[in-house]
Amino acid sequence: MSQALISAFSSPSNRHRVRFHDQMADPAGEQSLLEAITVGLTDSPRWISPKHFYNHRGSELFDQICQQPEYYPTRTEEAILESSVADIAARAGGEIDLIELGSGASHKIRLLLDALRPHHYVGVDISRDFLLENTQRLADDYPWLSVHALCADFTAPFSLLELEGDARPVVFFPGSSIGNFTPREAGELLGRVHDQLPPGGGLLIGVDRIKDRNRLEAAYNDAAGVTREFNLNLIHRLRDELDAEVSPEDFEHLAFYNESASRIEMHLVSQRDQTFSLDDQTIALTAGEHIHTENSWKYSRAGFETLAGHAGFTLQGHWSDDQGLFDVHYFERST
Ligand code: AVJ
Repeated sequence: MSQALISAFSSPSNRHRVRFHDQMADPAGEQSLLEAITVGLTDSPRWISPKHFYNHRGSELFDQICQQPEYYPTRTEEAILESSVADIAARAGGEIDLIELGSGASHKIRLLLDALRPHHYVGVDISRDFLLENTQRLADDYPWLSVHALCADFTAPFSLLELEGDARPVVFFPGSSIGNFTPREAGELLGRVHDQLPPGGGLLIGVDRIKDRNRLEAAYNDAAGVTREFNLNLIHRLRDELDAEVSPEDFEHLAFYNESASRIEMHLVSQRDQTFSLDDQTIALTAGEHIHTENSWKYSRAGFETLAGHAGFTLQGHWSDDQGLFDVHYFERST
């Protein structure tokens, strides 16, 4: 498990330093975005991976989604953590390091930092600048904490950092981000996390629950149109970062619950016949054609606990809200 310490995030001397580790070890990042998107757009049916939502603008839009009245997962998870934080600390606490996967804007982490007082905090995110901004804010606000930023794509194999000291690592995977993986991939990811944890290592994970269609679909079709803008951000990226001659006005946002697959699907629908070039390929879309941009799987409580059990985790605690909208599970690696 070795990784290069690429650079220390430079900061004024009166601020606390964030130690920055880069596992996105891809100097031709632009190139690989182009390649990745071209692969999906030349496939049938066409698709773009949801990880490409998260450039800086996309990460900001996601943060705004979390504040929309219809988008219940974030505020529900926050309320669960808030009301159960003492119980969570009793089970997951002690001498620990806290590693947050998909740390984003890191609001709910503050609750846990206050209650668990870990030795090290590691924020892991794919959006480099956004990660640095947010971990720096934490370092400023928590002067007693050792803060690390790990830029990594956890859809690919990645390694948890080796941290000084012998505190017990606890991985925090909030927001139902696990829902972006197919159940099989989710099981594999949990297996990789499990394999990197020592016995006794923990996983505190938030998972959105299967529920009625109206509630689910409203969350992905907010009235203010922020989710729409978030989805269309992919067209902005095609135009602004990959030089494709496309316009966001020529696409529409579509989000619906696919009940037999237990997942929300998001698509971009071409509003007319249109042709553009991408990496020496010509992409010809017909009016009404879809680009599939996201799946967000939902789980029953038992369904998720079974999945984690197969990955080698033992359930140590579970918390939910009164309406049963969202689950927070705490698992440990037993052997
Ligand atoms: C970050 C994957 C949990 O699926 O609810 C929110 C992403 N997409 N609105 C989700 C998302 C549209 C979000 N996750």
